[in-house]
Amino acid sequence: MDSILKGKTVVVTGAVRGIGQAIASLCAQKGANIAVPYIGPDPTPALTEYRSYGVKAEAYECNVADFGATKTVCDKILADFGGVEALVNNAGITADKLILRMTEEDFDKVIAVNLKGAFNMTKHLTQNFMRQRSGAIVNISSVVGLMGNAGQANYAASKAGLIGMTKTVARELSSRGVTCNAVAPGFIDTAMTAALTAEQQDAIKRQIPLGTIGQAQDVARAVVFFLENRYVTGETIKVDGGMYI
Ligand code: NAI
Repeated sequence: MDSILKGKTVVVTGAVRGIGQAIASLCAQKGANIAVPYIGPDPTPALTEYRSYGVKAEAYECNVADFGATKTVCDKILADFGGVEALVNNAGITADKLILRMTEEDFDKVIAVNLKGAFNMTKHLTQNFMRQRSGAIVNISSVVGLMGNAGQANYAASKAGLIGMTKTVARELSSRGVTCNAVAPGFIDTAMTAALTAEQQDAIKRQIPLGTIGQAQDVARAVVFFLENRYVTGETIKVDGGMYI
């Protein structure tokens, strides 16, 4: 049976590596065209992978925290692809410090990318979704937004904020057939976690009932569940090996 994603266009922010690449890759394997607003690194390898599945894939250099730039890029994507059926707000950054040392800039930049970035993209594609009377939005949150984490006041606030925004957008757009959900990953095997020492990784694994670090594909499968299921909205799925039960 074909996926309902076949022939549709999915926008995945930051899908040039890591979790975003796994999400976009799974969507492309299901026949979806892929549009990627991003800031570095070179998107060519990721785009080559998506296109290998026979779909259209384009990247657009754009800071998601910039309201005007995201408007320009969303309009360009709508023109280039002739419509957008789904949005995955994946782009995110960290700037970890204990609250005692965290600067105003550390706080503002993480909120600007992780939370306002998702607002900007959602805002600029909402009219398109409402006009179509269908659409799916998935926000990549984090278990840290649910449980907190020392050294991540800015990041945890942004990820908790995304869950509040998810529930609100779900309520606002449901009458137009548009769903909005969140995925809250735990520790996932990406460049970020690979940079940790073996001791740090072991300490993390001890907090995870399933005993291992998750894979980006585990997160991608949860995202695709939301994109394919038209009767779930306002929900958050943890993909964390039981880290926060
Ligand atoms: P990553 O650093 O490998 O990829 C993030 C992507 O976001 C990059 O490709 C970059 O181009 C893009 N990006 C960053 N700032 C941007 C901006 N201002 N405008 C446009 N694009 C921008 O990160 P990773 O690990 O793949 O994480 C993806 C998402 O998953 C993030 O939202 C992160 O917070 C979240 N997450 C990751 C976890 C992990 O263990 N790796 C755990 C929980 C959540």
